[in-house]
Amino acid sequence: SNDVSADLAHVLYTKEEIDAKVAELAAQIDKDYEGRDLLVVGVLKGAVMIMADLARALHSHVTMDWMAVSSYGSGTTSSGVVRILKDLDTDLMGKHVLIVEDIIDSGLTLSWLKSNLVSRGPASVEICTLLRKPEAAKVKMDVKYVGFDCPNEFVVGYGLDFSEKYRNLDFIGTLAPHVYQ
Ligand code: PRP
Ligand code: MN
Ligand code: MG
Repeated sequence: SNDVSADLAHVLYTKEEIDAKVAELAAQIDKDYEGRDLLVVGVLKGAVMIMADLARALHSHVTMDWMAVSSYGSGTTSSGVVRILKDLDTDLMGKHVLIVEDIIDSGLTLSWLKSNLVSRGPASVEICTLLRKPEAAKVKMDVKYVGFDCPNEFVVGYGLDFSEKYRNLDFIGTLAPHVYQ
């Protein structure tokens, strides 16, 4: 069917709730990086929506760059080894870097990415994620900006996909079981 709402179990975060949270995060980031040049790095493709909205909610000058990564291996056991599909165009030496993600699930992607970026000699590397799942707590990693700690369910929308679908929703919802069963 082409009817998206039939695929959803319920709405987790409305557009209004997301907008308010993004404004809150942006205000905090503006304050924390006052007087410094910030490079925001979006992780394709899930972070596209949060990057676009967060960047527009910031009042400071920022530059934007993108990375695309993919986890090695398949199934439930991930080695945490990540392959770079598209690297940054920007030299990180001396830069203040903020990685922007839609969700931290196991935390493996981001813990690998953070140490990869740290090794390039930036002044600082911090993380901003809209959603964080409970599993992420198992990975020892400092996440400075978290929008929502979300339930351990199949979440889609606002950048988050299931088989590349549902990214375009302007809210975040849980997928109805019949879709993935
Ligand atoms: C998703 C999500 C994060 C990552 C989190 O990306 O956008 O980048 O998984 O998972 P982890 O914490 O368990 O490592 P995905 O690999 O699905 O690619 P996408 O952003 O293109 O959807
Ligand atoms: Mn992603
Ligand atoms: Mg995905």
